[in-house]
Amino acid sequence: MMIRRHSRSAIFMHWFNAVCWLFLLFSGFALLVGDMQPIGQWWRNLWVALFGERGLLVAHLLVGSVWVAVYAIYILTSCRREVLPFLREILHFKPASDLVWCFRKGLWLVLGPKVMLKMGVDPKLPPQGFYNAGQRMVAVLAVAASIGLAITGVAMGYFSGNVSWALGENALLWCIVVHFACAGVMAIFLPVHIYMAALAPGEGPALRSMFTGFVPQSHAQHHNPLWFASLKAAGALGGETQEQHSNVAQKG
Ligand code: HEM
Repeated sequence: MMIRRHSRSAIFMHWFNAVCWLFLLFSGFALLVGDMQPIGQWWRNLWVALFGERGLLVAHLLVGSVWVAVYAIYILTSCRREVLPFLREILHFKPASDLVWCFRKGLWLVLGPKVMLKMGVDPKLPPQGFYNAGQRMVAVLAVAASIGLAITGVAMGYFSGNVSWALGENALLWCIVVHFACAGVMAIFLPVHIYMAALAPGEGPALRSMFTGFVPQSHAQHHNPLWFASLKAAGALGGETQEQHSNVAQKG
């Protein structure tokens, strides 16, 4: 039996977000010159050849603006239905159990359960809710970095240069620092997210759910037992009829 995990709008926003983020991150790297260039001059040359010097900046600003505008509309229209329940879910930390989860999951990925048992470490992970501890941490970072990037990006894109509403030099310098820091943090954590969500063993059903919206009941029972138990308690396990509900209705 399949259970709805993600609503159609959440799936659309995730992939829209992913495409925008990857474009913005890679084009953002290409905007950096001299010692600031983290990949190599060839990377900048490649993007300048594709878009031109000014075109690269315009493309970065255009995609960033569309990303901010679409998110603003989504947040305004889906605040109570999706955004607030999502924030409640990812901010629901249980420090002791989450630390144990991170420690054991890390060892499980690097050494495997057999070696852990030999070392005397229990490989059993503490039960998780809709998101596991690692997903919640990356999601909080992604939300914080998104807010930082959006505010500083809009400030630098539209409130600088020869406009009468231009910000002062100091404020703009801070915008650059915050913009780089947010992008840098996510440049480190995005590969972790992509590996854990798409490539790590046993994550196939979760990856497919980001396209279809559904996960097998057995997967939810095994990976998200607390979420599964809450669905059961709410009497919300009804096979394909789950389609009528949003994922958020089931997160609660
Ligand atoms: C192209 C690479 C990406 C892949 C394959 C991918 C895959 C996934 C999958 C499978 C999930 C669902 C996990 C589950 O149901 O337990 C997920 C959730 C999530 N991803 Fe990604 N992702 C990608 C890029 C990104 C990017 C660039 C971001 C931006 C920061 C991002 C942010 C998130 C967030 C915040 C969630 C939780 C939100 C939700 O469940 O609706 N992902 N991702």
